Amino acid sequence: MNTLNGSLKSPFIVLLLTVGLYGCGESAPPSSTADSTGTGVEEVAEVDGAKIYGQFCFSCHGPGLNGAPKLGDSEAWAPRLAKGVELMLKTTIEGIPPAMPPRGLCMACSDEELRAAIVHMSGAE
Ligand code: HEC
Repeated sequence: MNTLNGSLKSPFIVLLLTVGLYGCGESAPPSSTADSTGTGVEEVAEVDGAKIYGQFCFSCHGPGLNGAPKLGDSEAWAPRLAKGVELMLKTTIEGIPPAMPPRGLCMACSDEELRAAIVHMSGAE
């Protein structure tokens, strides 16, 4: 008897709490502070190269793994910058065997997002 009673009660409480919290969250305006901290993918209209870099490129391009040109290392980037962002975008999409994987491992990234990450890393523009 006791266990049946308990198992009926707790989901009900959880449901009440969920509804209560959800109601609270909704009353806050979502757009005013979403600028730099926003995590909702649809909400971010602007492509954030630093964010893409931090999520996908940093693991290799941070420490310079296997000769990956590091963020802000102008010497390492100079010869690559010389060929231009468009060509770097092309090699990023295709990858550079063996160490640079196609799309820098971000299969869900659009070309535009990859481009922004490249600009962020290389200091192009
Ligand atoms: C698994 C490691 C790894 C990851 C992850 C990675 N890279 Fe690289 N990347 C490399 C290495 C190594 C090179 C140097 C390759 C070479 O020159 O032979 C490189 C080179 C590059 C270059 C220079 C290309 C050129 O034409 O000279 C660009 C641009 C680049 N990466 C962009 C990115 C971007 C953008 C991301 C994230 C979306 C990323 N990479 C993620 C390893 C990585």
